[in-house]
Amino acid sequence: MKTIIEPFRVKSVEPIRMTTSEQREELIARAGFNVFLLKSDDVIIDLLTDSGTGAMSSEQWAGIMRADESYAGAASFYRFENSLKDITGFKHILPTHQGRASERILFELLASPGKVIPNNAHFDTTRANIEYQGASAVDLPIEPAKAPAKSFPFKGNINIEALEQLIDEVGVQSIPCVMVTVTNNSSGGQPVSLENLRAARSVCDRHNLPLFLDACRFAENAWLIKQRERGQESRNVRAIVREMFDMSDGATISAKKDGLVNIGGVLLLRDDALFTRASNLLILTEGYLTYGGLSGRDLEAMAQGFQEVVDENYLAYRIRSVEYLGERLTAAGISIVQPPGGHAVYLDASAFCPHIPQSQFPGQALVCGLYRHAGIRAVEIGSLMFGGPGRPAPNLELVRLAIPRRVYTQSHIDFVAEAIIELHEKRNEMRGLKIVFEPPALRHFTARFVEL
Ligand code: F0G
Repeated sequence: MKTIIEPFRVKSVEPIRMTTSEQREELIARAGFNVFLLKSDDVIIDLLTDSGTGAMSSEQWAGIMRADESYAGAASFYRFENSLKDITGFKHILPTHQGRASERILFELLASPGKVIPNNAHFDTTRANIEYQGASAVDLPIEPAKAPAKSFPFKGNINIEALEQLIDEVGVQSIPCVMVTVTNNSSGGQPVSLENLRAARSVCDRHNLPLFLDACRFAENAWLIKQRERGQESRNVRAIVREMFDMSDGATISAKKDGLVNIGGVLLLRDDALFTRASNLLILTEGYLTYGGLSGRDLEAMAQGFQEVVDENYLAYRIRSVEYLGERLTAAGISIVQPPGGHAVYLDASAFCPHIPQSQFPGQALVCGLYRHAGIRAVEIGSLMFGGPGRPAPNLELVRLAIPRRVYTQSHIDFVAEAIIELHEKRNEMRGLKIVFEPPALRHFTARFVEL
């Protein structure tokens, strides 16, 4: 069969409130042209993020009922721990409330002023947690990652030559660890190959450095390895996942992505001494070792979610639906980051709105255009997110269409494609924006604009 179906039936539905374009004109103006300030009830298709927005399975909901809410030694914790040991092979597994909590604990232990932490591309919370400790976060993308229109199978790879150079330049004593983000969200949800991970591992071995993964989307990365990396096509995803984790000394995970839950995180460690120190911080700020800032039911949902995410029928459907959206847009002549990522399609806003200069936020103008045209909520990844007083404008003006897991069907995706293609046809009507309010940090969440 050519048609790849959603490998699930729907048991419970959540109505979508439809809005008219007149209503949306008023709503977006009232929100200061910032979609973070909209109420979700006023959104028809929400592609703001794939984080914590997925649908849980009937088995996950069953686990929620079964959960043990004991403070210490809860059965739910052991189910969670066994599930993660089974998938990752790690000895030490700490639950946290989300990815950035794992990052904060790890970098409080590893980072300090003068230290440098390389990554293929740091996600913004990872960077912020490193910088908060006074260390610097350095991105080492490969060249093809800088050209959005050019397709390359593993655009997420870390630049091995640049990594060697950085180690020579700053000295191995300044580098507490090397990190690799799988998939690489900041570069378009692009995967990292096993070959690249092996090369990073061998650099780390040569310099006696630990290698950590930011493994939020580990299963999507493994599926893309199976699809794209020579010699991997007949392996099962679980084996590829295991090889990725086996190469690392630790990992931070936001379970809100490939954990298939609405809240939760994990910190994986091999080193006993580091685990003891991380445990102390976990107790201090998150909660006791067997719940880590979560309830027993959250642990149950994760225990089940981490097993379901490596199901190859699920991954085939998941990755195909993102790819399908990318193909439809490409066929209509719309520029996207090629190839489509694992969790999202990234529109090239500069190509979409060539009449809007970078100083007038073409990405945000496109985000507003999508909302007005069809009630779709996306997110700007460009001058608004990365720029600001004293910060250079980024190279790319992108808009991310992140697809929540197991939430939308083929016809929702068709609706999104149709809306973007229609908007593209009348793109000259979109206007630039000017900021009238911005906070000192992370301005994209609360900034307000007027239209020019
Ligand atoms: N690392 C990566 C690669 C991420 O994409 C995220 C979150 C985090 C870490 C932090 O995890 O939110 O659970 O604290 N990304 C979301 C997004 C917010 O929309 O891409 P968290």
